[in-house]
Amino acid sequence: MTTLLRVEGLTRLFGGLVAVNKVDFDVEEGKIIAIIGPNGAGKSTLFNLIGGTISPSSGKVFFAGNDITGWKPYSIARAGIARTFQTTALFEELPVYVNLVIGHRMRTRSGLWDVILHTPRQKREKNETTAKVLEVLEFTELGEYINAPAGSIPQEAQKRLAIGVALMGNPRLLLLDEPTGGVGMGETDNIIALIDRIRAKGVTVCVIEHKMRMIMSLADRIVALNFGVKIAEGDPQRVCDDPAVIEAYLGECIA
Ligand SMILES: Nc1ncnc2c1ncn2[C@@H]1O[C@H](COP(=O)(O)OP(=O)(O)OP(=O)(O)O)[C@@H](O)[C@H]1O
Ligand SMILES: [Mg+2]
Repeated sequence: MTTLLRVEGLTRLFGGLVAVNKVDFDVEEGKIIAIIGPNGAGKSTLFNLIGGTISPSSGKVFFAGNDITGWKPYSIARAGIARTFQTTALFEELPVYVNLVIGHRMRTRSGLWDVILHTPRQKREKNETTAKVLEVLEFTELGEYINAPAGSIPQEAQKRLAIGVALMGNPRLLLLDEPTGGVGMGETDNIIALIDRIRAKGVTVCVIEHKMRMIMSLADRIVALNFGVKIAEGDPQRVCDDPAVIEAYLGECIA
């Protein structure tokens, strides 16, 4: 088993508040890890620290053997970590496929002169982008919405599109912040199936979720946070039965 992500003593203060407090955990390549905990537990802050949008007060993040602590978000993205945000960040006025194209720009190298002069590089990258858009549309089962403005498609499909945008960069690790947030209990099956397909491709997934049904059907391991501190970690059923987790989660953690 290869450790793809390692978080060591990760800590982040906001003024006097310790949002993430000396958190340690490892993520093995190819696994799905769920991060659970009540509102304000520090889950999204943890993702922001891993993705580089905020820097830790102390502690380290290692990815694929490299110390990526303090790297800029685009360098971390290029290294192979992609993420979705708790509030779906799509270009709502733009068609679904354009959202995917924008998600791919991070990987292309063509500059303005390549575009103006139609260099071979620009042509090749354009073809690559088109192929990748079609592949991701099929993979996320969003083909029927290809030309629809992203904001006009069902909420559940928007969530899949946000995941699709993240997949455009061929990540090795995908961080999903509440991928079913705002989606009704009966409408999560497509999202669960998509995350399962992502795992089957060998992509490692860290997912923040409140819906226990989803966690129990997907996660290989759970990390539970409360007030920024890791209070439990391990096998999903064991973590769910942990008294500290039940207390922090007010008994919601029932599979
Ligand atoms: N940029 C910031 N500035 C100041 N405080 C912040 C900032 N980001 C988060 N916090 C605080 O840090 C704590 C953890 O927030 P975080 O968003 O990580 O929680 P969460 O576990 O994702 O919660 P939720 O389930 O509600 O999304 C909260 O008390 C929050 O108010
Ligand atoms: Mg959050």
